[in-house]
Amino acid sequence: MTASTGHNCVIETEGLTRIFGSVCAVDNLNLRVEQGRFFGFLGPNGAGKSTTLKMLTGMLAPSRGRIRLFGADTSDPECARQLRRRIGVVPENLALFDYLTAREYLLFIGRMYDLPLPVVAQRTEELLALMGLAKEDNKLTLDFSHGMKKKLALAAALLPGPDLLFLDEPFEGVDPVSSRLLKDILQQCVARGATVFLTSHVLEIVERLCTDVAIIHQGRLVFQGTMEEIRQTGSLEDHFLATVGREHLQAQRLTWLEET
Ligand SMILES: Nc1ncnc2c1ncn2[C@@H]1O[C@H](COP(=O)(O)OP(=O)(O)OP(=O)(O)O)[C@@H](O)[C@H]1O
Ligand SMILES: [Mg+2]
Repeated sequence: MTASTGHNCVIETEGLTRIFGSVCAVDNLNLRVEQGRFFGFLGPNGAGKSTTLKMLTGMLAPSRGRIRLFGADTSDPECARQLRRRIGVVPENLALFDYLTAREYLLFIGRMYDLPLPVVAQRTEELLALMGLAKEDNKLTLDFSHGMKKKLALAAALLPGPDLLFLDEPFEGVDPVSSRLLKDILQQCVARGATVFLTSHVLEIVERLCTDVAIIHQGRLVFQGTMEEIRQTGSLEDHFLATVGREHLQAQRLTWLEET
């Protein structure tokens, strides 16, 4: 494995770029996330967050640039294979298997991570209870509600006890009780040394949980810093709007809804 260039750097990208036809979805991204950080990756719709997350997790090949996870170059297939065991992912499209129950799906995921069956079985039951899915055995995931699918995907990401979690909009569609449980669990993961990389549009959650924030706009990194730095100058919302939203807010109006 290639040695990391950064101290305790878990995620490192160099000139990471993804082009779709004429659209440069991610443009020369240089990111660094250190171990044990709770990293919020923010940006407006279409900014390039999910595309970045897909490249970081090996779901999408970069057009250019390099990715190192735990100091290892992900373009090396053997490194990538080993890295996958340390990573939990909730992708944008959730990618569940329609014709399995929640229990079957988690058992399958556990076996994919090569965990011993008794360990998988115990973790599966704990996760199903925690996510409120234990009594849904008569349903295939195809028939799950959106929030139930999201919780199952989160359970699958947590099951291997990953050192690094990639979560694309983990709180979107999840009810307040489950959302609270999830926040506590993610904080526990970070407290035991794991690193969390999440995208979210819910700035209040990001502000409460994250230690570090990066903002991407039109594929380009426009800010990377700590939450502490942001708090010194105001709220995360103020910071976000000042970085990517001011122009848009000022330019937009609906003429027929204005007061006469
Ligand atoms: N498979 C694809 N083919 C073509 N264009 C794509 C594809 N995936 C993403 N894009 C484009 O890349 C850009 C970034 O998309 P991406 O999904 O990464 O945005 P995002 O920041 O995750 O947005 P959102 O907040 O809405 O989830 C957009 O212009 C999008 O249309
Ligand atoms: Mg997205």
